[in-house]
Amino acid sequence: MVKEVFETNFPSETVQEGKVKVVVPKLKAFKKQPSDYAPSKAPVFYNPVMELNRDIAVLAFQAYQRMVNRDISICEPLTSSGIRGIRFAAEIHGVKKVVISDISERAIKLAKHNVNLNGLNERVTVQHKDANCLLSCHGAPRKRFDIMDIDPFGSPVPYLDSTVRALRNKGLLAATATDLAPLCGVHAKACVRKYGGKPLRTEYCHEIAVRLLAGCIATVAAKQDIGVHILFSHSTDHYIRVYAQIAYGAKKADASTKTMGYVLHCFNCLHRETARSPFNLHIEKCPECGSKMDWAGPLWLGKIFDTQFCELMAQENRHTAFRNNRKIATLIALTKDEAEAPATYYVIDKISNKLSLPVPSVAAMLKILHDNGFEAVPTHFNSRGLRTNASASAVQNLLKIAVSSQE
Ligand SMILES: C[S@@+](CC[C@H](N)C(=O)[O-])C[C@H]1O[C@@H](n2cnc3c(N)ncnc32)[C@H](O)[C@@H]1O
Ligand SMILES: [Zn+2]
Repeated sequence: MVKEVFETNFPSETVQEGKVKVVVPKLKAFKKQPSDYAPSKAPVFYNPVMELNRDIAVLAFQAYQRMVNRDISICEPLTSSGIRGIRFAAEIHGVKKVVISDISERAIKLAKHNVNLNGLNERVTVQHKDANCLLSCHGAPRKRFDIMDIDPFGSPVPYLDSTVRALRNKGLLAATATDLAPLCGVHAKACVRKYGGKPLRTEYCHEIAVRLLAGCIATVAAKQDIGVHILFSHSTDHYIRVYAQIAYGAKKADASTKTMGYVLHCFNCLHRETARSPFNLHIEKCPECGSKMDWAGPLWLGKIFDTQFCELMAQENRHTAFRNNRKIATLIALTKDEAEAPATYYVIDKISNKLSLPVPSVAAMLKILHDNGFEAVPTHFNSRGLRTNASASAVQNLLKIAVSSQE
């Protein structure tokens, strides 16, 4: 029986997202000063900006379900209002069970109401537990889940160990990280502490952030003789997100460990390269200009998007009605193209600034790189960025030509 009226002891409203209707805090009521971040001020966390993150999760999990071709179970142990887990049950075909949980009593009260409101009591179970406690209870065979969605405040790292234990073989781990200050190198020590890798404040720091999170997942999994394959990742708004498929086996874990390494960067000439071993960190002299180089890592040097998985997600997006369909189509098309391209990207504005030249268009730069026999694709990480196999000096020379031919 669906209850029509729900009394929260705080200002609330009903919103529609995807195929569900949920009661959430009325954010306007919790923004007392312009600097207030209303989602965190509300008694139960809710951020409408994360609709895109949830839409993409629905598409990725549906793509995964089609890939494994059986009924799946999903756990969302940091659920808040329940909006995410409820959408998974309501919108993804082939979901037999969703477990949502939160440590906050108020969140759980609201999540229970929202499950009821959407008539999903049969398939969605609501728990009131600390995430690591819940996940530890699901660490044994036959209790494990197919998919785990970790969407915390800040870093997902405190939950990764128990998350990996609670995933069945070939299961999918999706994790959001909003602690971009450590991951992008503003608080480097915190990043080393949490993610086990050194960040670097470069123009491609968001890609480094994704690789640090992917590397951390791979390292945590490897300790349990589990390997990882990154199916998808993205950097959007104030967060990054990684989708990692796990696979049981010491050999798989060894293969993941071998995929770890370092990115070396020259802040003088923008040259960058990768190294698999800490013994190959020849940072003393940049091979292009002779300056001392800096480095990031250890981090994941393998692929951060899987072309086929991107295609599956694109297909799902074409068959789904979301407010964000067009935005998602653009994002997936970009990631699909950059899946096979080299690690790290150049930002045209940064190079123009360095050379004190006007900024050419991305299209002009892509064309001149192609005309000169280089591979070059845009990147979803930065609308002014491009990935290429051209060296930093070749990119700078071609930018000069592109600018002069525009004049
Ligand atoms: C960013 S919010 C989750 C947002 C939600 N996934 C969504 O899409 O709207 C993080 C949630 O984690 C909960 N939380 C924090 N620490 C927790 C813990 N140790 N165990 C379980 N829940 C926790 C908070 O109460 C909060 O509701
Ligand atoms: Zn250099």
